[in-house]
Amino acid sequence: MPVQKICTVAEAVRLNEYAYALTLEVGEEMAAQTSCGQFVHIKCGEERLLRRPISICSWDKTTLRVVFEVRGEGTEWLSRRKVGDELDVLGPLGHGFDSSAKKILVVGGGIGVPPMLGVAKAAAAAGAEVHAALGFRDQGHRMLTDEFAECCRSMSVISDDGTTGRKGFVTELVEEFLQNTPCVSVDCASCSGKPVPPVVMACGPKGMLKAVAKACAAHGVECLVSLEERMGCGVGACLVCACDMADGSRKHVCKDGPVFNAKEVDWND
Ligand SMILES: Cc1cc2nc3c(=O)[nH]c(=O)nc-3n(C[C@H](O)[C@H](O)[C@H](O)COP(=O)(O)OP(=O)(O)OC[C@H]3O[C@@H](n4cnc5c(N)ncnc54)[C@H](O)[C@@H]3O)c2cc1C
Ligand code: FES
Repeated sequence: MPVQKICTVAEAVRLNEYAYALTLEVGEEMAAQTSCGQFVHIKCGEERLLRRPISICSWDKTTLRVVFEVRGEGTEWLSRRKVGDELDVLGPLGHGFDSSAKKILVVGGGIGVPPMLGVAKAAAAAGAEVHAALGFRDQGHRMLTDEFAECCRSMSVISDDGTTGRKGFVTELVEEFLQNTPCVSVDCASCSGKPVPPVVMACGPKGMLKAVAKACAAHGVECLVSLEERMGCGVGACLVCACDMADGSRKHVCKDGPVFNAKEVDWND
């Protein structure tokens, strides 16, 4: 059951010119229920009725860390929170990633990168071979890559303008990974003759997710995506976050997602 709680800000860090990280003292009950890919719904001041959904980036026994960029009033208010301030937090919410696969490529684009760190950490802790493909607008937007490097077998970084060292879109990294993954359909020496099919898990802009889903489908690789929709209640009661599924049904991103199998999603705009 999600918990609604007034939580103290334990740490407030600026990750770069655009991204803010808040570590919240949420207590054991909320932290113990958390799994990767879930989100919290945060009240951003008394004057704003609707809470703001922010993904959980990482967590420990009593704290959750969220990372966000300023988009409007709510996130601007959040960016001014300091250590010791109190926040009204509801969570953890939604269905996250199943990180039990043995070989995982986590794919993050822009502000979709932080939730994938939680996936990478949880999967690596469970003994999985984790690889990361991360895309940023430029070097100034780069964040959290040291932490990915710590828990991943490999990490590739790319940016729209090349200032991170390689120019291009993160989908190129996904395509390369899929092409260079001998375990997809044939036995190989490195996995003792037992094929280990990778699972690709992604969060980022919808166009990026669509391209990642298409590449995975072409290679016959399972793909899980975290979708973003505007939200009202965050708990399945208001329909604001409804999204179209491939079978013609509509699902709630807040309650049924935000993580879906890419095959379930209607990718036509
Ligand atoms: C499941 C989920 C996880 C998210 N995780 C993160 C994260 O980890 N880091 C991060 O920076 N952002 C994340 N977002 C986006 C974040 O919720 C929006 O940037 C934020 O709500 C904008 O609020 P605002 O008041 O600053 O902007 P405004 O534009 O002033 O917001 C007006 C209203 O629209 C809603 N809204 C605006 N943009 C979005 C959006 N993109 N998604 C959902 N609602 C929106 C707001 O919640 C608010 O109710 C996530 C969104 C979802 C749905
Ligand atoms: S936000 Fe209300 S149903 Fe999803």
